[in-house]
Amino acid sequence: MVANPTMVFPHHGAEKAAATSGKLLAVENVNLEYRTRERIVRATHDVSFDVYGGDRFVLLGPSGCGKSTLLKAVAGFIEPRAGSISLDGERVRGPGADRIVVFQEFDQLPPWKTVVQNVAFPLRVAKKLSKAEAHQRALHYLDKVGLAAFANAYPHTLSGGMKQRVAIARALAMQPRVLLMDEPFAALDALTRRKMQEELLRLWEEVNFTLLFVTHSIEEALIVGNRVLLLSPHPGRVRAELNSHQYSRDSFGRADFQRSVARIHHLLFDQTDAVQ
Ligand SMILES: Nc1ncnc2c1ncn2[C@@H]1O[C@H](COP(=O)(O)OP(=O)(O)O)[C@@H](O)[C@H]1O
Ligand SMILES: [Mg+2]
Repeated sequence: MVANPTMVFPHHGAEKAAATSGKLLAVENVNLEYRTRERIVRATHDVSFDVYGGDRFVLLGPSGCGKSTLLKAVAGFIEPRAGSISLDGERVRGPGADRIVVFQEFDQLPPWKTVVQNVAFPLRVAKKLSKAEAHQRALHYLDKVGLAAFANAYPHTLSGGMKQRVAIARALAMQPRVLLMDEPFAALDALTRRKMQEELLRLWEEVNFTLLFVTHSIEEALIVGNRVLLLSPHPGRVRAELNSHQYSRDSFGRADFQRSVARIHHLLFDQTDAVQ
């Protein structure tokens, strides 16, 4: 059963319209499964959602509910057992440069390339840019994430937060239709994580991309997202869709924010009977 979105947050139609344009990504009735020799594991069941241009759409649910699997399916690494995933009206049939993923791990940057080479490399390969063009664009996006001064550094000399910034710059430089992020800040310490959430919002305002973001943190979902899809525990089903654009980093500790966190916690964990 899907809870009414207005149940938790009021719908601010005008604000939403300002932040969005046409439908970009359509996920319809998607079942995702893993087949091992012994058994079939259903990761998600009948999941549907739409992402609009300019959205910061968050998939929120407990560990094991199929968030990463959903993101991998959108990225084109996994094919749905049932249902469909379309981008700009075209069925997703495999990976593509129009969907770039930023992962949680700090080791997603080849260590033998400098920071700027890491960002420029996929531009040369997938975007067919010349060496000079790729270098230029890489520097532009490194500047956006505040790392212009570290262009010639090697990844192992950077902190975890800086490595994630490089991964974000590399992804944004590709100018994907949708930027996919799978718990990108989950391995960072609490203060750095807060700072990265803030920077991501600033980047979104500056660069204007569409984001599909996965997290199991309710607070992070409310702060990063403008819309949040709540997924039930394993196998993931849609529990509710909420508007959350009224929250920012300044919301931490505020009474209405804490009330929303508590209500979402209740929706996610205290109503298992409602999912049947
Ligand atoms: N490669 C795999 N083979 C079999 N089962 C898997 C595999 N990857 C994930 N799963 C299972 O699928 C379910 C969803 O996993 P996942 O998408 O990683 O969840 P989340 O990202 O929400 O924590 C879990 O039950 C997990 O154990
Ligand atoms: Mg995951």
